[in-house]
Amino acid sequence: MPLIAPSLLSANFLQLQADCDMLNQSKADWYHLDVMDGVFVPNISFGPMLVNFFRKATQKTCDVHLMIEHPEQYAEAFKNAGADILTVHIEACKHLHRNVQQIKQLGMKAGVAINPHTPAESLRNILSDIDLVCVMSVNPGFGGQTFIPDTLKKIKTLKQMITEGNHAVLIEVDGGVTLENAHSIVAAGADVLVAGNTVFKSDNPLQTIEALKHI
Ligand code: DX5
Ligand code: ZN
Repeated sequence: MPLIAPSLLSANFLQLQADCDMLNQSKADWYHLDVMDGVFVPNISFGPMLVNFFRKATQKTCDVHLMIEHPEQYAEAFKNAGADILTVHIEACKHLHRNVQQIKQLGMKAGVAINPHTPAESLRNILSDIDLVCVMSVNPGFGGQTFIPDTLKKIKTLKQMITEGNHAVLIEVDGGVTLENAHSIVAAGADVLVAGNTVFKSDNPLQTIEALKHI
C-alpha cells in the first residue's frame, strides 16, 4: 500500500484551512509542499512562512520539495518552519553530499529529486546517505501536467539499485499521478505517490485519497 502525499500546490489558497482540515481527516500519510524560486523552475510558489502555517494546521508528515537554487541557504529556515522531510534537486546542487549532510544535521529526513532527463544512475553514490528519492514524472514547475511514461522504467531501475544495495530509501513519484496510472507506478516500485490535481480538483478529495491508498 503506497503512502499518499497530496500536493497543496493544487489547493484553493483562499480556503487553506478547509483543505488542511480535509487532509487531517483523510487517509493521506504526508502532505507535499512545493517551494519554487522562479530561477530553478519557471514559477514562484511560496516559502518557509507558508510552510509554517501548514505545519500548525496539520498533523501529518510535512514533506517539503525545494525547487530552488542554493537550497543550503534556506534549509534551516525550512527546519524552523516545521519540515520533516526536505528534498533538494540534484540538478541544483553542486555539492549534493554536503546538502544532504546539512539537512540530516538539522534533524530532518533528506530527499533528492531528479528531473525527467536525469538518469537513475546519477544517484548511485548518494543512496546510502538519503531517506527518499523524488522521481519527477513531469518537468517541475507546475501542477496539472501529464505523466511522462518513460518514468516507469526509471522507477524500476531505481528500485533495483535500492534493493541490491540494501538501502533504506523510499521512492516518491511526483507529477501527473492519476487514479488511472497509479497502479502501474506502484507496480514499478513507487512507495510514495504525490498527487495535486487528482486530489484537489476532484469532487470528493477524501474519497480520491482513499482510492489512491487502496490502488
Ligand atoms: C511539480 C510539483 C508537483 C505538483 C504535482 O513541479 O513538484 O508536486 O504539485 O501536481 P500534479 O499531481 O497535479 O501533477
Ligand atoms: Zn513536488
